[in-house]
Amino acid sequence: MDVGWCFFFLLVQSLLFLPSHTQSDSFTSVLVSQNGLDFVKNLLVNKAIASIIPLQIPRIEKSVRIPFLGGIDVVVSNLTIYELDVASSYVKLGETGVVIVASGTTCNLSMNWHYSYSTWLAPIEISDQGIASVQVEGMEIGLSLGLQSDEGGLKLSLSECGCHVNDISIELEGGASWFYQGMVNAFKDQIGASVESTIAKKLSEGVSDLDSFLQSLPKEIPVDDKAALNVTFTSDPILKDSSVTFEIDGLFTKRETNQDLKSFFRNSASSAICPGNSKMLGISVDEAVFNSAAALYYNAEFMQWIVDKIPEQTLLNTARWRFIIPQLYKKYPNQDMNLNISLSSPPLVKISEEYVGANVDADLVIDVLQADQVIPVACISLVIRGSGALRVMGNNLGGSVRLEDFSMSLKWSNIGNLHLHLLQPIVRTVIQTVFVPYANDHLEKGFPLPIIRGFTLENAEIICSNSEIAVCSDVAYLDSSQQLRSRLTLPRSTPWKSKLL
Ligand SMILES: *[C@@H]1O[C@H](CO)[C@@H](O)[C@H](O)[C@H]1NC(C)=O
Ligand SMILES: *[C@@H]1O[C@H](CO)[C@@H](O)[C@H](O)[C@H]1NC(C)=O
Ligand SMILES: *[C@@H]1O[C@H](CO)[C@@H](O)[C@H](O)[C@H]1NC(C)=O
Ligand SMILES: *[C@@H]1O[C@H](CO)[C@@H](O)[C@H](O)[C@H]1NC(C)=O
Repeated sequence: MDVGWCFFFLLVQSLLFLPSHTQSDSFTSVLVSQNGLDFVKNLLVNKAIASIIPLQIPRIEKSVRIPFLGGIDVVVSNLTIYELDVASSYVKLGETGVVIVASGTTCNLSMNWHYSYSTWLAPIEISDQGIASVQVEGMEIGLSLGLQSDEGGLKLSLSECGCHVNDISIELEGGASWFYQGMVNAFKDQIGASVESTIAKKLSEGVSDLDSFLQSLPKEIPVDDKAALNVTFTSDPILKDSSVTFEIDGLFTKRETNQDLKSFFRNSASSAICPGNSKMLGISVDEAVFNSAAALYYNAEFMQWIVDKIPEQTLLNTARWRFIIPQLYKKYPNQDMNLNISLSSPPLVKISEEYVGANVDADLVIDVLQADQVIPVACISLVIRGSGALRVMGNNLGGSVRLEDFSMSLKWSNIGNLHLHLLQPIVRTVIQTVFVPYANDHLEKGFPLPIIRGFTLENAEIICSNSEIAVCSDVAYLDSSQQLRSRLTLPRSTPWKSKLL
């Protein structure tokens, strides 16, 4: 079959299969657009060339019949491809996999030749040897790759691999001219076939290396010593609209334990990630991811603060509260106090087109410190509303919150009724100086987006939509051997929005 047709067939074959995508428990989707595929394809082509060269081709021994001389034994050895040049290549998607075709490929080989013969004319054996250069022109290389999820990992398989040499030219250095033509005729096809099979073999080894690499990708990305992101693949990659979408679990899990957080549901199946955007990569993160983080840290009891130092330290003495809560001063005159703030439920994150926000329910217990004793005297329930800004830093998604407003209600009191409106400024100060900086300290670093090591996001943009955010970005690739670029891009963050939850 003509090789062009052969690749066409590969394409059609992989395009014919119907979509088999079913929505699953995935909270983060990673879409690689055609631009992203081209980027990865170029990377792979360059990596493949670098790994192929220099490529040794097995020696060829042959008996060649030459007019008047009869049979002579020729050995071609040390056949080495030392240059390989891909004129053009493309990547196309079918339903079951990826097709990569490189055409107009040329390669240059060097080789040693040796011949020997004996005839009745000359009783001794006659031999000669030299070197030759070989040019392979118009080589077509095609790969058809299958991509599947396998036990939460990603499996790459080689469905077809073809390499076809169009034309070959051989130039001898030295040697007799009669030998030249015989040599070219006898070895052309065999060298071509050998180049084809050696490159195909090398490519299939390359694919299996890539497969091992993909299978060795971690199923969890550590966030800190307490939390990790579950980056298990939850379904086969979806190949559609010239893009590949990888569905991954994406939720926060407690490190090294199989703790069950409350279950999350994805509100809407992400339809199109970064529509109309020409960026290479789109990562959509459901608000459930943020809520799983909130639930995890809440369960880890990280969300409790004893406030015993504030900028206006006199506020933490009953004397200062004398006129605000007279009973407090009467009962515990001139005693130091602290405030015990604890969250009463995990913060709830809401994402919409206009804003990113969080609702936090907290209990604020007023403690009086008497001798060695901590005496809780009253408890105020707080509902704090914050709005957030998200930012991509390196490969992390981070952000910051600020206080929008809060409401208070008295939960219990041993010191009579409190005039909550009088407490408002003090509580606001505490939230602003303790709570918000604490939250921002943690949010600033953010958490890692599921990006394969070596790739870095460039010119990322964040787009909020109903219940999810999408990071639309280009990527760059840095080999571990390459120097790390010092340039750090800080993409624009989503603007502050004053709307509340
Ligand atoms: C084999 O080929 C390589 C590359 O052309 C060359 O450097 C090397 O000397 C050759 N070896 C022999 C034994 O001729
Ligand atoms: C390799 O072969 C191409 C033609 O196929 C030729 O143009 C090029 O100069 C050769 N390169 C070397 C280094 O010999
Ligand atoms: C990670 O996600 C997968 C798929 O949703 C799930 O089966 C697995 O239990 C999760 N792992 C942990 C440690 O939560
Ligand atoms: C802080 O208050 C919570 C109840 O809101 C309580 O369970 C916890 O023990 C208190 N912590 C301290 C150190 O007083």
